[in-house]
Amino acid sequence: MTNEEIENLVNITDIVSLVSQYVNLEKQGKNYQGLCPFHNEKTPSFVVSPDKKIFKCFGCGKAGGPIKFIEEIEQVGYKEALHKLADFNGIKLSDTYKKKEDPNKRLYDLMNASKDFYKMYLNKTKEGLNAIKYLEDRGLTKEIIEDFSIGLSPDFGDNLYKMLSEMGFKELDMFDAGLIEKDKNGKIYDLFSNRIMFPIFNEFGNVVAYSARIYKESKDKKDHKYINSRETVIFKKGEVLFNFDKAKLSINKMHRVILHEGQMDVIASNKAGFTEAVCTLGTSLSKAHVDKLSKLTKSVVICYDGDFAGRNASVKAIKLFESYGFDIHLVLLPDGLDPDDYIKKYGIEKYKEYFNNNQIDKDRYLFNVLFFDKNLNDSNVLKALMNDAFELIASFNSMVEEERYLDELSKRINASIDAIKNDYANFKKTYWPAPQKAIVEKEEKKPKPISTKKFNSICEFRIIKYAQRSKVLALQIDEAISNSMDGMSQETQELWTELIYSYYENFETFDEGRFINMISEECMNHYMYLNEELKKDITKYNDDDLELCVEKIKSISRRISNKRLKEIAKNSADITEKSRLTDQIISNRRRKK
Ligand code: CTP
Ligand code: MN
Repeated sequence: MTNEEIENLVNITDIVSLVSQYVNLEKQGKNYQGLCPFHNEKTPSFVVSPDKKIFKCFGCGKAGGPIKFIEEIEQVGYKEALHKLADFNGIKLSDTYKKKEDPNKRLYDLMNASKDFYKMYLNKTKEGLNAIKYLEDRGLTKEIIEDFSIGLSPDFGDNLYKMLSEMGFKELDMFDAGLIEKDKNGKIYDLFSNRIMFPIFNEFGNVVAYSARIYKESKDKKDHKYINSRETVIFKKGEVLFNFDKAKLSINKMHRVILHEGQMDVIASNKAGFTEAVCTLGTSLSKAHVDKLSKLTKSVVICYDGDFAGRNASVKAIKLFESYGFDIHLVLLPDGLDPDDYIKKYGIEKYKEYFNNNQIDKDRYLFNVLFFDKNLNDSNVLKALMNDAFELIASFNSMVEEERYLDELSKRINASIDAIKNDYANFKKTYWPAPQKAIVEKEEKKPKPISTKKFNSICEFRIIKYAQRSKVLALQIDEAISNSMDGMSQETQELWTELIYSYYENFETFDEGRFINMISEECMNHYMYLNEELKKDITKYNDDDLELCVEKIKSISRRISNKRLKEIAKNSADITEKSRLTDQIISNRRRKK
């Protein structure tokens, strides 16, 4: 394809209808406007110009033409985007621009053929009738079965193997795709037998694996309810999300993703109209999963099972999403139910109502979870609970929330608010804030890349953390390091000055939000960068450590000034001046001891 062809492709594109597939646009004079699909916002700053055939977001700065738009929204490369744009316009690209053959195409074709086989087996056989009855009993309609390409694997044997062989697929590929296995005698058999087959698609719509469920009483009691494909070249459990390929569009449109625990829940949720739902595949949520989701949205509703395991998994998921700056809400279903159970018991309408009206923010959820299954009459349990609650409350970093939750805590454990506040004050004396809390991008604020300026030592930021404890301590530290400020990087020195001379001049206690709001953008970037760095730091915060940190900064400062003195001494011709400087270097060294 020539440049001319590409130009023509762009020229014939109606960019408004292209973008409208993903964004609700409204006409504003010559242009169209809507909520930006690339960042979270509540008032529209995303503009599409039909004349110029471009889009531009005045919030996050993303801009470009139709090809760029597809690249960004579908997270595909340039060539892939070209093909999609050609598809959109219903034209064929010339041969010279044929897609490069995917090295895994053989496996995709194979998996696709196996999916067709399982579907056929479900829909065209007597055994299939039983399986369909099972699915229908679970509330799956014919359309849903078709939508999710659900199939059935035959009871034992090598039916799939034979069929695929006849179609010309290679045995080795079938092993590689995790479809067949060899028994002790070397006889090949199908790995999945007598199970409902849920194909797992990757984000480009290729079948990469299966989750296979028992659907009738198993002869073998030890049989697992679900078995999933093993990891293969095309299936990485820690990366794939069930239904992600279909949910992408809805996630874009709804500006959020819903996360469930199992595929039956995702399917049930879909029935209720929540098409932005996904789940992991028998593994816990990974960074790679969240990374993938964070490209589409920064807002998640976690709706796991209401049981113990579900609550644990939710807490872990919250931490992961937090580190990506997500806006996090949770829905906790009653009586340990999962979404599928709930819909079965109360129906779709009730589920929708419950889901929409019972979303709680992550702080509230983490607080509530503390009290589950706890015997508050046991004083050890109570002490542990209070400690956990205090830690959580302190991490909220907000006086208002602090007061609110302390008040609630006192009611929940039936203690006076004065007693609670007293214990909390004691707790805070020995508590050092975990430097975990990610700073969420301010709404509609243009995301700024975090600068990667160097710092002299992790100590310089730990000192800032110490200084956040109290004004008194901050001033003490300031006095201790006031002659050694150059032991910290230039940026941290500026941050320090802001903290001591601007912030603490005006306020008695530290509040991160307030602090960030009053410092310059450069300072904020540096602050965030150091916060990031501190996440890797696991050293405990305590008085001894504070001294060490101060000492470290002083020693860096001494080293720097020694270096400078040596430079001067080296260049100085005057013998007495030289010896005076050398003396100073030695006394510097002594000071260290
Ligand atoms: N899972 C698995 N292997 C198992 C059990 C579960 O891989 N032996 C995975 C499946 O993906 C399942 C998810 O974990 O969807 C959640 O498990 P569970 O809550 O036990 O199942 P449900 O989703 O409730 O499935 P169903 O309603 O069909 O019983
Ligand atoms: Mn279930």
